[in-house]
Order: sequence, then structure tokens, then C-alpha cells
Amino acid sequence: MEIVPSLLSADFTRLREEIDAVEKAGATRLHLDVMDGHFVPNITIGPFIVEAIRRHTGLHLESHLMITNPEQFIEPFIKAGSDTVVIHIESSQDVVRDFNTIRQLGAKAGLVINPPTPFADIEPYLEFIDHLLVMTVNPGFGGQKMIKEALDKVVLAKPYSKKYGFPIEIDGGVNIDTVTNAKNAGTDLIVAGSAVFSNGKPFDNFKTLTEKLHRE
Ligand code: DX5
Ligand code: ZN
Repeated sequence: MEIVPSLLSADFTRLREEIDAVEKAGATRLHLDVMDGHFVPNITIGPFIVEAIRRHTGLHLESHLMITNPEQFIEPFIKAGSDTVVIHIESSQDVVRDFNTIRQLGAKAGLVINPPTPFADIEPYLEFIDHLLVMTVNPGFGGQKMIKEALDKVVLAKPYSKKYGFPIEIDGGVNIDTVTNAKNAGTDLIVAGSAVFSNGKPFDNFKTLTEKLHRE
């Protein structure tokens, strides 16, 4: 179990220091939120920024593609240095094809599901994935409240995770209180954006969340 900092709430004028702070605090991965203004009502980073981050850090980079036509951007994001590419079940026209493309290009293939989408929609594809992301907010913005019912999908996915060996990650609304809910559901990786970066103390916040996760 570990916290995965999402840079969405970082200070982008000081990205290098923000990354160094969480790396020193013990982070092994970074979560990169890619939004296109179509699939979600917000626009964030593209391959250009991922490339800049890659030049600076050896941390595992997971790119969460909240975009329409994700198949067009798999290659640019892997060439930019993504280690894992995560595709939405709601935006991909052919997830198995997209997973194959991702793996052929040398990255890990992740699948992500939004809160309103039923677990049954992803069940047929769980044998093909390297990574499962369960959204616990509707994607688009940091700092939202966790939709706790979405954690039921973590419980449903757990037997498949054990059988096929992929980690389960959750994304959205994690803070010092809700991190325990994520832990109890059986989550392996826990994305945290605003809870890590929003008050300018990413090192302390990462440590505090991690300690809470491993306590009790
Ligand atoms: C939401 C993004 C999340 C976001 C989480 O669309 O996918 O990764 O950064 O932010 P917090 O942790 O603030 O809910
Ligand atoms: Zn995300």
C-alpha cells in the first residue's frame, strides 16, 4: 500500500521542487492527470510536460488519460516517458486493442472506471490489464469529496487482482480521514493530489498520509 502523489494540485512554477519533496518523502510513483477539455471539462498537461518531468525524475510515471480518442495519444505519452498509461473504459473504443498498443510500446496497460459506470462493464477486460484505477470522484478537478460507494468496486475487483496479479489504485477525494476507507477496501495504490500539495507542504503531507496508512 502506498500513496501516489498527483501533480494536479502541485505548484507548476516549482514542479522540480514539488517532485523532489515527495521523492524524498518516499514516493515511488507520480500520477499525471491528462485532460483534454472534451472527455472532462478541464484542460491540463500534455506529452511535453511529461517529457520534462521524465528528464528530471526516475519515479514511475503513470499517465491517467482523461481524453477522447485515447488511442491517438498512447504513443506520444509513452515516448514522453510514461511507464504506465491508464485508459478510461468510457472513452476507449477498443480497450483490448489499446492495451496491446501500450504493451507493444513497452509500458504497462491500465484501465480506469468512473463512479457511475457499473463494475460489469470492466469485468470482461480484467484478465488483460496490468493496472486498475477506480475513480472515487467524477474526473476533471482536484479537491472534490470522495464518493465512498465507488470503493465497492475495489472489493469486487480484488479476486481478479489476486488471480491476474494487477494492483488496484483509487483516485479522488483522499485525505487524512478518507485514506482509511481506501485502505479498508483493499486498495494497493492511493492517489492523493490536494491532500499532498495544496498547502505547500508536500513532504510533510506525504509522510503524514503514509503513516496513517500503516498505523492501526
Ligand atoms: C481527478 C484526477 C485526480 C485528482 C485527485 O480528475 O484524476 O487524480 O488529481 O485530486 P484529489 O486528490 O485532490 O481529489
Ligand atoms: Zn487521476
